[in-house]
Amino acid sequence: MNSKIFNLSNLDEGKTVTVYGWVEKVRDHGGVIFLDLRKDLEIIQVVIEPSEKEIFSVAENIKNEFVIEVSGLVRKRPKGTENIKMSTGEVEVCANKLNIFSKSKPLPFQLDEYSNAGEEIRLKYRYLDLRRPEMHENLIMRSEVSNSVRNFLVNKGFIDIDTPMMTKATPEGARDFLIPSRVNKGKFYALPQSPQLFKQLLMVSGFSKYFQIAKCFRDEDTRKDRQPEFTQIDIEMSFTSCEEIMNISENLIIELFKNILNVDLKRFPKITHKESMEKYGTDKPDLRNPIILHDVKDLFLDSDFKVFKDPANDKKSKLVAMKLKKDISRGQIDEYTKYVGNFGAKGLAYIKVNDVSDLKKGLQSPIVKFLSEKELESLVKKLDLKNGEVVFFGAGNKKIVFDSMGALRQKLAEDFDLIDKTSWKPLWITDFPMFDETLEGALTPSHHPFTKSLSTLDLLEKSPHQAISEAYDLVLNGFELGGGSMRIHDAEEQRKIFSILGISDEEAKQKFGFFLEALEYGCPPHGGIAFGLDRIVMLMANEDSIRDVIAFPKTQSALCLMTEAPDKISNAELEDLSIKSTFEEIE
Ligand code: AMO
Ligand code: AMP
Repeated sequence: MNSKIFNLSNLDEGKTVTVYGWVEKVRDHGGVIFLDLRKDLEIIQVVIEPSEKEIFSVAENIKNEFVIEVSGLVRKRPKGTENIKMSTGEVEVCANKLNIFSKSKPLPFQLDEYSNAGEEIRLKYRYLDLRRPEMHENLIMRSEVSNSVRNFLVNKGFIDIDTPMMTKATPEGARDFLIPSRVNKGKFYALPQSPQLFKQLLMVSGFSKYFQIAKCFRDEDTRKDRQPEFTQIDIEMSFTSCEEIMNISENLIIELFKNILNVDLKRFPKITHKESMEKYGTDKPDLRNPIILHDVKDLFLDSDFKVFKDPANDKKSKLVAMKLKKDISRGQIDEYTKYVGNFGAKGLAYIKVNDVSDLKKGLQSPIVKFLSEKELESLVKKLDLKNGEVVFFGAGNKKIVFDSMGALRQKLAEDFDLIDKTSWKPLWITDFPMFDETLEGALTPSHHPFTKSLSTLDLLEKSPHQAISEAYDLVLNGFELGGGSMRIHDAEEQRKIFSILGISDEEAKQKFGFFLEALEYGCPPHGGIAFGLDRIVMLMANEDSIRDVIAFPKTQSALCLMTEAPDKISNAELEDLSIKSTFEEIE
């Protein structure tokens, strides 16, 4: 078959050609049948005239989405009937032979009205949904991104090595998907949350530049930018530094944007995790958003307003303010108060600046009466307040204030259209804390437990909360695209980190014994990074969800609606695996 056939133009006029594809549309125009034939991203118009008696009667029964083959003469469309939107829009094929490869039932949803159909039906019939040009374009872009990544890294001397899918748990903070072993009864493999341990072992093996476009599996809540099964661009290097890895990564992303979108990204700014939290309330700030948080603790240390005074005087608390130059109604403020409540905030104090020259009457807010003139004056000065602005305050527990005000910052920018959707604002976040603390007070790794610290072992042990890691994240327009770190390459140091994390020697040996042992056979200093390929393509394709750039994704409840996975298995199969289910189905 001639796959070039769809590149027809008026230059092909007079040629006899064979075209094939799916019938996108059938139109009967006063006895002449017009078919739009679709293949890949192209469409050609086919005309079947009643004089072609034999094929005309066959064509009369053709419906949308039949797969057919047509031969005929290429001719110019009559004047006025050209379609300049189509590359083949000036010509048509006047059929004299017709063959139906395959019929189609009426589709469960119209491909051009997919959005009315809802995502559920689209995912159930994903193979049909993928016929849409938008989905074709997304998957073509995904393939181009993978190719560009591969070319870039191979040219830089990286070696593509694949690591096992059936393995032992690799902790990245999610639950594992487990595979029971039939041969080794009572034992389980885990699907990798990332190739982390294997890529580090490859450094021990002496491959100093590794990469892989790797499938990763994490049993965690599915969201727009998270799937239980996703793809990483995974990189590791030995005898390297943070700077080198960040530089290579940055060049990779710059090259991808140039190759795929023809966009020239500028060098990426770097800010510390602390700065990011204090300025934006999040470690993945959208720098297209102009709103900034201001620490106003120092203004309210002696305030009569307890809501401000208490956190102002408490080390573990925060008191922040942000301003917005928009007229905002009481109803909207109530909505935003409810919104921050979702993050645990107990309220949302605000001040509307009507007349900045009159500190008492010109500032409209239920809290102004509790604040002194001096406090208001210093607030006006610190935030450089102008008439027509509104200030919101977040006060209290540090995590709640950052979570709620960070989210409100983004919501305000979206609601008031403050974001330039055409711009790209990448940045690096560095100097993460080594550990996070759970609500119960336990320490967890802020990245993963193999991350090297910039702090001394002594500080790590005595004040782990203050320890800073040699980790970095790449953030683009509010999404974490990638993250990595320098790694611990000394077995003793690794054991110490496990112990600080409350992992006993026994547990460390059972889970990571092979890895700790490997570190004792000559491990080079090393580090790396992994990018979410799906997220990169999602942003490039201007989609809201990574589901739209994955051929066969799972739903929010981690289901594949098409295959109906996950599925039940028979008792016999369970028995084979020596597994007994305790799950009781409610009839
Ligand atoms: P991390 O867990 O930060 O690091 O993952 C790296 C990147 O992978 C993407 N990502 C996801 N994409 C879609 N769905 C998910 N569930 C999902 N989880 C993560 C994100 C993220 O930035 N081994 C380390 C990397 C390293 O240290 O080298 C790791 O996996 O874009
Ligand atoms: P209250 O004293 O609880 O009536 O609150 C007085 C004002 O402060 C109201 O406008 C509340 O919305 C606001 N407020 C209360 N708690 C907080 C908080 N933790 N952060 C920000 N504003 C708050």
